[in-house]
Amino acid sequence: MTDNDLLHTSFYIQTVALKSRVLLAPMDGFTDSPFRLICQAFGSSLNTSEFINGIDVENGHPHLKFHTFFSEAERPFSYQIFDDDPQRLLRSAIKLEENKPDLIDVNMGCSAKNVSNRGAGAGLLKNPQKIGQIITLLVNHLQTPVTAKIRLGWDNDSLNFLEVVRILQDSGVSAITVHARTRKQEFSGRSNWNAIAEIKQAAKIPIIGNGDVASLADAAMMIQQTGCDAVMIGRSAIGNPWVFSGQDKKKIPPHELFRVMETHLCSMCELYSPRIGTMMFRKHMARYLSDFLTSPDIRRKIFSTEDPSVLLKIISFLLDINS
Ligand SMILES: Cc1cc2nc3c(=O)[nH]c(=O)nc-3n(C[C@H](O)[C@H](O)[C@H](O)COP(=O)(O)O)c2cc1C
Repeated sequence: MTDNDLLHTSFYIQTVALKSRVLLAPMDGFTDSPFRLICQAFGSSLNTSEFINGIDVENGHPHLKFHTFFSEAERPFSYQIFDDDPQRLLRSAIKLEENKPDLIDVNMGCSAKNVSNRGAGAGLLKNPQKIGQIITLLVNHLQTPVTAKIRLGWDNDSLNFLEVVRILQDSGVSAITVHARTRKQEFSGRSNWNAIAEIKQAAKIPIIGNGDVASLADAAMMIQQTGCDAVMIGRSAIGNPWVFSGQDKKKIPPHELFRVMETHLCSMCELYSPRIGTMMFRKHMARYLSDFLTSPDIRRKIFSTEDPSVLLKIISFLLDINS
């Protein structure tokens, strides 16, 4: 079987069919509906929201409507939620379930201090009993299949991933994504793919491997080395949705780069408003144009305009696509 065949076979998370083995990883501040749709067009087969704070669902945070928005075209779609309080997590999951997502994922891997130090995200890994309590509650009260995204443990002295996976599985999760680093590592060092292989050997449910996959060749290698069912790609997709189609970004013609950026920007303007959408697009733009932003003068212009049509003119000039 070629890498391409391997990655383009479908698989199931419970009753939810996913068309390929490569999925966009949730990334706060990046994986909103506009970016998810672009990655889907290039081959990502699951759309997951940015992580949603249970406290925000409870209090009706003003930005929640953007975090929770998804379109029908995005199915299969998963909401990811985080909290340290099992009952509040359940209440927020029940509220989110009203929007009929295909899956509900619990974040047990966020390393950010304001999340993990309060016992949410990767903070939950310190308390496997609470993990069991949370998943049991959700599985018993939701119609939607529940999944979890974990790290390997809090630090190297507490690598409890096999215990956590056993508890998750016994409590009824339908799949587990493993970012193969500890909380302490945050994003440093290499992710430990051997640990993903150990988890896959021990588990009976789909295991999605994650960490340091920068191409479809890496994705196929992770599946071959670990036996995992699918692979999530995070940072390497920012400014490079072509990672899902296997095209080398360096060989993408300027017209195509422009077309994708234009689609992305317009869709952000539609969701957030032209001004806010343009400002929020800047972090994507810095990555799309990483090879082009060499002149300080252009950088100044491109990162200061709040007008999408002016921005597109500057980008087309920069990419020299009118010549
Ligand atoms: C900017 C940023 C935001 C992230 N936000 C989330 C999040 O909301 N939920 C989550 O489960 N993981 C989040 N992650 C972690 C990624 O999903 C992924 O596990 C991690 O980046 C490792 O995969 P990669 O090597 O392919 O980037 C985030 C990562 C980054 C870089």
